[in-house]
Amino acid sequence: MCGIVGYIGHRSAADVVLKGLKRLEYRGYDSAGLAHIDGGVVIAKTKGKVAALDKLVTDRTATLGLGHTRWATHGEPNDVNAHPHTGGDRAFALVHNGIIENYDVLKRQLLAQGHVFDGETDTEVLAHLIEEVHRVSGGEFENAVRMALQQVTGTFGIAIVHRDFPDTLFAARRGSPLLVGVGEHEFFVASDASPIIEYTQHVVYLDDDEMVVITRNGYEVKTIRNVPITKAVHQLALSLEQIEKGGYPHFMLKEIHEQPRAIADCLRGRLLVDEHRIQLGGLEPVMDKLLVAKRICIAACGTSWHSGLVGEYLIEGLARIPVEVAYASEFRYNDPLIGPEDVLIVISQSGETADTLAALREAKAKGATVIGVVNVVGSTIARETDAGVYIHAGPEIGVASTKAFTAQVTVLTMIALMLAERKKTLPAARLKQLIRDLHDIPAKIADILARDAEIAELAKVFTYAPNFLYLGRSYNFPVALEGALKLKEISYIHAEGYPAAEMKHGPIALIDQHMPVVVLATSDHVNDKMVSNIEEVRARKGRIIAVTTPGNDAVLNLAEFAVTVPETDDALSPLLTVIPLQLLSYHIAINRKCDVDQPRNLAKSVTVE
Ligand code: G6P
Repeated sequence: MCGIVGYIGHRSAADVVLKGLKRLEYRGYDSAGLAHIDGGVVIAKTKGKVAALDKLVTDRTATLGLGHTRWATHGEPNDVNAHPHTGGDRAFALVHNGIIENYDVLKRQLLAQGHVFDGETDTEVLAHLIEEVHRVSGGEFENAVRMALQQVTGTFGIAIVHRDFPDTLFAARRGSPLLVGVGEHEFFVASDASPIIEYTQHVVYLDDDEMVVITRNGYEVKTIRNVPITKAVHQLALSLEQIEKGGYPHFMLKEIHEQPRAIADCLRGRLLVDEHRIQLGGLEPVMDKLLVAKRICIAACGTSWHSGLVGEYLIEGLARIPVEVAYASEFRYNDPLIGPEDVLIVISQSGETADTLAALREAKAKGATVIGVVNVVGSTIARETDAGVYIHAGPEIGVASTKAFTAQVTVLTMIALMLAERKKTLPAARLKQLIRDLHDIPAKIADILARDAEIAELAKVFTYAPNFLYLGRSYNFPVALEGALKLKEISYIHAEGYPAAEMKHGPIALIDQHMPVVVLATSDHVNDKMVSNIEEVRARKGRIIAVTTPGNDAVLNLAEFAVTVPETDDALSPLLTVIPLQLLSYHIAINRKCDVDQPRNLAKSVTVE
């Protein structure tokens, strides 16, 4: 979490940094700050969003500077805890993304050495540590930074400007993403590529324990142990248009509406309808392992974990390979039973989620083959996996994930179908039909999106409901979880998702005439069972909102409200049933005047554990 931008060149550093921070606000937005070198270190920082910081910055002439948008870990979001931080003599300004895990021990040592702290952050401790190491070692400042970084445990992406080096920008990383943008006589550092794309398409991705020293003429990368490294310069494939709202009031709505296009992009060149097969070039290097795997594990967090659950149903159902899905945070800390015969699929939109990255590393250390299902090209997870399939959804900026979920499920469907084809676990006719049905999904999503107004009306009825229950079975159970998550994330309404039959073991006690119950009840192999569950809700006067298919009268007759989605194969139904739930959450949140793109306390890229 937290976003970092640094600039050195010929433009106004404040302008570049502030614009960049606005694009990085998805990473955190509880406070923001900026520093530039103008004789000394000049710092402006404040609680609140980057817009508030923008108003504070009047002098914009400096051409070296850095900034930060924060998601608080240590210390509440206020002006003092906002970054940048300095040491006691205010010689330099430091911004940080990550957690210094041993900050407490370090702080006690520094207090004993006479350091005085203004706030409660771990970052301020790092600033004082660098100052102390520099004072004691007396050598080059950059060496003091290196030595200090060797003393910390935890994660960091940092950038530093120093009043004695008006032509130098320092940056380093461990665990938290950081890249260097390489322009014409200008350079950038940033947590991702979005702040720099209008200036340059050339980037260098820093790896763990690397530090870059950038001057106006060039840059030099060394490890924090001072070993020089030659880094490849990568070409970005990102356009400005992709990260703007394109006429929509919110990124989330734009991204919901982008789903037909995103899924078509994801399928392109991979779903070979005429040949009745799937081609996933990114998996070729590990295909042998995948085909003989006795078991596949999946690790992910948040919405990506939900798509992993759909993946479990798909791979087990279609390719008949046992699958275990774990929260990445649980997987990593429980000495996972995984080894050279196993395959782990990690799913991550950002490719930077700390727990998912740690799960990947844990599995690799134990000899497993790791496959990534990632959106952000060049992200840490994408780079560290043995093989992978990019979901190609394009940048997802709204904090609540929408198009990444459907694109992840699309990739997992293709993996399942590819395995089914090669292992011959499906009758040829069903495989052929599934491939055709998958090809038709983008158009069917477009059909549902065209009925947005209907869902907006429904949202009006339930805008002030304090609780929601979401029920589904089989492939649609994970969709119930995702629907509930979407609603609570952006509208702050308490919502729970449940396998429909489990309702009887607890949640049924909550059902009365005030409880909206969203049921995912398409005409699938569990429809009769869903109908029984809907009867049970109705008998307790729950308010039934059904997501169903046209002509499903058994459901339509019981529901107070219904939204229909086109028919498809049971296995593909999550790609359709989730769409009305995304729209319902969006409209309810808008009615409640919530900030849907930047909901309170959340962040898009969770780079802390
Ligand atoms: C955060 C985001 C979610 C996302 C989750 C996992 O909680 O707000 O939208 O699903 O992290 O992120 P990842 O980037 O690994 O998919």
